[in-house]
Amino acid sequence: MMKCLDFDTAVERRGSQSFKWDGTLEEFGKEDVIPLWVADMDFPCAPEILDAFSARIDHGVMGYTMRTQRYLSAVRHWFRQRHGWEVPQQALAFAPPGVIFAVNVLIDLLSQPGDRIVMQTPNYDALMNSVTAGGRIISENPLKLVNGRYELDFDDLERVLAMPRTKILLMSNPNNPTGRLWTWAELERLGELCLRHHVTILSDDIHADLVMPGYHYTPLPSLSPQLARSSVLLTSTNKTFNLGGLQLATLVIHDETLRNRFNQVMARYQTRLDNLFGAIALETAYESCGYWLDGVISYVDQNRQALEAFIRTHLPQLTAYPMEATYFSWIDFSGLGRGEELERFLVDTCGVAFTPGREFSPEYSQFMRANLACPRALLLTAFQRIADHIL
Ligand SMILES: Cc1ncc(COP(=O)(O)O)c(C=O)c1O
Repeated sequence: MMKCLDFDTAVERRGSQSFKWDGTLEEFGKEDVIPLWVADMDFPCAPEILDAFSARIDHGVMGYTMRTQRYLSAVRHWFRQRHGWEVPQQALAFAPPGVIFAVNVLIDLLSQPGDRIVMQTPNYDALMNSVTAGGRIISENPLKLVNGRYELDFDDLERVLAMPRTKILLMSNPNNPTGRLWTWAELERLGELCLRHHVTILSDDIHADLVMPGYHYTPLPSLSPQLARSSVLLTSTNKTFNLGGLQLATLVIHDETLRNRFNQVMARYQTRLDNLFGAIALETAYESCGYWLDGVISYVDQNRQALEAFIRTHLPQLTAYPMEATYFSWIDFSGLGRGEELERFLVDTCGVAFTPGREFSPEYSQFMRANLACPRALLLTAFQRIADHIL
């Protein structure tokens, strides 16, 4: 039964150590902006999670936490029930500091400085930084626009996979920022090419639970036993249930040797124990908060429709690309004709802070990534401010 959820009422996040709300002065040089940047939601998390926190706070002792059988079963239950994906318990691995930490560990285990890592562009900047800061080289495989939809360029992919010292393909599914959710057929073709070139796939699926109506998510390792062995999938409760401040990540590593090596690194850094509240939240969320996620998806989808209608009527110079998954709208602002002034115009004149497209690839300096996981009134006020200033 659908419980009644209210995502319209704004919660005051200023003064709550919120990176998105309290960090705008440092990031954009301005405090008084509507922040539609950082990838978290402006919604309180599911009431069941808050109740579970309260019960644990009443207990009072906040010592070290272990991952229980309930935790492991909750993860497997979620994959099975939400995505029809059966994952053996022994394939699970965990990284309490988060997905990006785990990606860095895996890059170190699977490649050497100077090796090449293939990435579709545009892509999430922290993933790209993980590659370059570790002394590896990004081989770009730019997405191509076909009839208004971003697609994989398989000819180019084959070319970059064949380059010497190519060890890894690091992808986001769905792609952050464009919101493209890779289909079974696309993943199958990409997977075949990687198998042929002996390239391991790291699939960052952190946004993959946020699938918009009409689309379907396929976890890459579910395609075949071969792909399961030559890939690692990374996911988290972080985006799905708005728990970014609690820092957990779940990995599916079918290859036993790689999994053991990964776990050895985690043991070395003493990161094998979970954050207490992260663990409580994960168990509660995966066991009983699917309804809450359904509510979020429906609300965000209505935000998307409201935004697209607003753009059609009041800002026809903008192009918003189809949002298949995530809660981001990927918007081309080049029609405003602001050129290099675009970012300052949006922040200083309009008072709206998006994640600038250049962070995902220098080619996208006229694009912005807008976070739609906020009350609808706030979202529309932000775009109204822009419409008011272009007249
Ligand atoms: C694609 C992607 N991966 C990873 C992260 C961050 O994950 P974590 O906080 O677990 O390191 C984000 C956050 O925005 C993201 O968009």
